[in-house]
Amino acid sequence: MADKKARLTVDGLEEAIELPVYSGTEGPDVIDVRPLTGQGLFTYDPGFVSTAACESKLTYIDGGNGVLLHGGYPIEQLAQNADYLEVCYLLLNGELPTAEQKETFVNTVTNHTMVHEQMSHFFNGFRRDAHPMAIMCGVVGALSAFYHDSLDINDPHHREVCAYRLIAKMPTIAAMCYKYSIGQPFIFPRNEMSYAENFLHMMFSTPCGEYKVSPTLAKAMDKIFILHADHEQNASTSTVRLAGSSGANPFACIAAGIAALWGPAHGGANEAVLVMLNEIGDEERIPEFIQRAKDPNDPFRLMGFGHRVYRNFDPRAKVMAQTAQEVLEELGIENDPLLKIAKRLEQIALEDEYFVERKLYPNVDFYSGIILKAIGIPTNMFTVIFALARTIGWISHWNEFHSSPNKIGRPRQLYTGPKQRDYPAK
Ligand code: CMC
Repeated sequence: MADKKARLTVDGLEEAIELPVYSGTEGPDVIDVRPLTGQGLFTYDPGFVSTAACESKLTYIDGGNGVLLHGGYPIEQLAQNADYLEVCYLLLNGELPTAEQKETFVNTVTNHTMVHEQMSHFFNGFRRDAHPMAIMCGVVGALSAFYHDSLDINDPHHREVCAYRLIAKMPTIAAMCYKYSIGQPFIFPRNEMSYAENFLHMMFSTPCGEYKVSPTLAKAMDKIFILHADHEQNASTSTVRLAGSSGANPFACIAAGIAALWGPAHGGANEAVLVMLNEIGDEERIPEFIQRAKDPNDPFRLMGFGHRVYRNFDPRAKVMAQTAQEVLEELGIENDPLLKIAKRLEQIALEDEYFVERKLYPNVDFYSGIILKAIGIPTNMFTVIFALARTIGWISHWNEFHSSPNKIGRPRQLYTGPKQRDYPAK
């Protein structure tokens, strides 16, 4: 598949090193640097800024033009026309389902939504004030102790069953994390409800009263799930692939992904945005926070702004901003003070030279928190919802990794520690 070649000359080497260059279906060519090892050389790329760590068919991002495609379909079209389970099918199988395939897929997922009853006791070991992400990391990792019958990673059927189980059980587990933290009993999933409706039901119903799920809010929830479903080789997905490369079981790998997602530079940003908006508190204080974000000596960053790959706009943020508007209109809370601060902040940041020069635009997390807050989701559940939705991306990448010949992930380093020395004589 190498249609071009690159030649690298290195001081001290007599001959140039010839490196194959591959072209994908979209995006920049990649230089295969593997021949360098034979010459005693490594490449150096902290943060993987210029490194394609794998080959993948699932998702394509063109950061310069704000394009995000799953299976070739633009995210805007999927958010407009598909539902989350269709997107899950697409990521897992590479094609959109036919009506019949969709019905079978939805039925299968629906029939896996309950978790093993023993798992509910597992929650009791956590403090009630534990962060739901802490509980989720533990509980998802613990799934490997409950579902032994599908752990053969070399068996495609086992891998498929694991994917079904994860897609189906994540909303149940996420809602259980919430219910546990507020001291309410767990609510069982309901088979007649859609994926998003069921999640809202498990979050907000109680044994004393059924929560009436608003179709607009369920649709908004479903859109949030779609917009978070996958995002190519981001930090958490790369973590899942790397953990998977050692042959670890899929539930352990997804738990690793959840841990990587938690940080505020990644999925934790949606919670951090709301914390920041609350901290700003008043439009008058915005310039103070903008100033802090620009100060190289202050670690503060404007949460929900910037992206490693998008250097124009985040297409997910556009759909999210539109959805936020619809939800707030439906709920009659267009004058929400936090939304006002968010809109003003966005406007100022988009005009400010510092942000314009560095191409720092609002990302998906900037608006998702506003919608989630309007739906009534508590702030500490925001990243849990990101994890729930991203599980399909993680498990699809994990499955893709195991579907073809692969190698354990093992980066090298530029060593700058002490040279070899002898232990001091005593
Ligand atoms: N506020 C202020 N300055 C920023 C911000 C920000 N949010 N983001 C980047 N910068 C500055 C940064 O200080 C640097 O300036 P300089 O060139 O003067 O040193 C420049 O912009 C480039 O930043 P970087 O850290 O080299 O960029 P990166 O690609 O390594 O980081 C990022 C990307 C998303 C981690 C970063 O933009 C950030 O921390 N944003 C805030 C957190 C956030 O919203 N994260 C969610 C990302 S989208 C959802 C997801 O994928 O999980």
